[in-house]
Amino acid sequence: MTNVTGPLIAAIVPAAGRGERMGPGTPKALRLLGGAPLLAHAVRALSRARSVDLVVVAAPPDQVAAVRDLLADHHAGAALKVVPGGATRQESVRRALATLPDSVVTVLVHDAARPLAPVELVEAVAAAAQAGADGVVPAMPVSDTVKRVEGNVVVETVDRQALRAVQTPQGFSRAALEEAHLEASAVEATDDAALVERLGRRVVVVPGAEEAFKVTRPLDLLLAEAVLAKRRADGVS
Ligand code: CTP
Ligand code: MG
Repeated sequence: MTNVTGPLIAAIVPAAGRGERMGPGTPKALRLLGGAPLLAHAVRALSRARSVDLVVVAAPPDQVAAVRDLLADHHAGAALKVVPGGATRQESVRRALATLPDSVVTVLVHDAARPLAPVELVEAVAAAAQAGADGVVPAMPVSDTVKRVEGNVVVETVDRQALRAVQTPQGFSRAALEEAHLEASAVEATDDAALVERLGRRVVVVPGAEEAFKVTRPLDLLLAEAVLAKRRADGVS
């Protein structure tokens, strides 16, 4: 829903990766899941969240116009902007961040590679960010036993009780996220919260969602197809 004072909550979608772990072919965000690109599913979930006013997609730089076309039918409820992404995920987020209108005070960042994140998760993260946290991450308990190794030798078994696997969407105060990206030019992180943590800011967790899993390898795409087929059979998609 576009706010009369301009968008207050924007969601950035890094989608400019190549998807090397998925194998050769189309960039991962543009691969099809149930007939629509992964990116379109991710954008649709964000747009369906009532709290999200604007979605900014960082697309593969040579496909900005094509991505704008293919998303035309998938962003009802929120305004959409498509900008060229960068060589790394962090650079893609930074580029999208630089295009936000002044009215935006809260920013969500959500991977195109997590197409089935539930709308309820988007709303929960947005609410926690608006409640005043510098950063919010959805977190899941770790179900595997985790060991630290050197070469092929186990050094330690880590206490998994204290560990969490984190997902997106992540939520931030715009000021904290901008400062974090500004201060991070020499480091490369795999999520945005890590950059905010580096500043010593407070990042809180909210319960994650199993369906917000990341599509990284071919097996993940098979799982996503199965989840989507079940949703459609249940009439919830
Ligand atoms: N991403 C991006 N710009 C990049 C690299 C990644 O916007 N230069 C995005 C991806 O499109 C994806 C998200 O960041 O939505 C999470 O990254 P990941 O799962 O690692 O995707 P890829 O980088 O595409 O995959 P891979 O690492 O296997 O190449
Ligand atoms: Mg990657």
